[in-house]
Amino acid sequence: MTSSSRPRVLVTRAVFPEHVARLEARVDATFNQADVPLDVDEVARRLDGVEGLLCASGDKIDSLLVRRATTLRVVSTISVGTNHIDLDACRARAIVVTNTPDVLTETTADFGWALMMAAARRVTESEHWLRAGLWQRWSLDQFLGVDVHHATLGIVGMGRIGQALARRAAGFSMTVVYNNRSRLPAAIEEECRARFVSRDELFRTADHVILVLPYTRDNHHTIGAAELASMKPTATLTNIARGGLVDEDALADALTEGRLGAAGLDVYEGEPAINPRLLALERVALTPHLGSASRATRAAMGRLAIDNLVEALEGREPPNRIA
Ligand code: DGY
Repeated sequence: MTSSSRPRVLVTRAVFPEHVARLEARVDATFNQADVPLDVDEVARRLDGVEGLLCASGDKIDSLLVRRATTLRVVSTISVGTNHIDLDACRARAIVVTNTPDVLTETTADFGWALMMAAARRVTESEHWLRAGLWQRWSLDQFLGVDVHHATLGIVGMGRIGQALARRAAGFSMTVVYNNRSRLPAAIEEECRARFVSRDELFRTADHVILVLPYTRDNHHTIGAAELASMKPTATLTNIARGGLVDEDALADALTEGRLGAAGLDVYEGEPAINPRLLALERVALTPHLGSASRATRAAMGRLAIDNLVEALEGREPPNRIA
């Protein structure tokens, strides 16, 4: 393919040097290596005459943008989540959409585990206190948390990452219950040592609830005041999926009133803006959407997204097509 016949691609986010090289070998790409935030209008402007878009979960690819991007043929997101993309609008224009599943499963499960442990054992809260110079002496009742080992883990959303979390729970001698749109085959339940339960039972019985379900229009604030009220007052809630799943004000109420033990949050409804009520609370471990953020996994996600993009632009079926 000559350089002039190579597809034009817009990359919305800074990517690793190896990604730049991989793209430059196959397409005519416009990069954003300074990682300047691009609003929808700016993306639309830069998409003029462009056929491929390499984006990430913070980029809103809505129906208006899809309508304006008249030359766009492929949207490849460097994420497994696709709630930022209007898939119906893309289908209506026959735009191919791809994501990056599998390569991030274990890394994200590791992080979910870390955040759940941090919430249960008050890791970030006590570190802030220590850094503030407040530690005078060891005391028996300092920053008492709740145990993870031998406790009941409730996994909401039992896809690949949910299953990876369940497998980790065996090492902590936990009882695992899960809820999912559909029950898993018996062989997977057995391998994960996980029991399917209703949402009600999960919230009532779990000592640690972790959210790993995809966010859709239909499950906005699926964890609200009622779900939080049904949880044990000592329980923890960890969210590594999407912020919109949780009613953050209801969560802040539950934590403030001592109706919930602690929370671990990696994702937020208005991220990167954080609900100020959450920032003011002690019993919350907060991280900036880091679930898949190991060097190796982010590199693999970028490579996979590029391969998906190029395959589709060159007219072949991409490995991870979702629309
Ligand atoms: C994902 O892959 O969906 C992660 O949340 C990163 O955006």
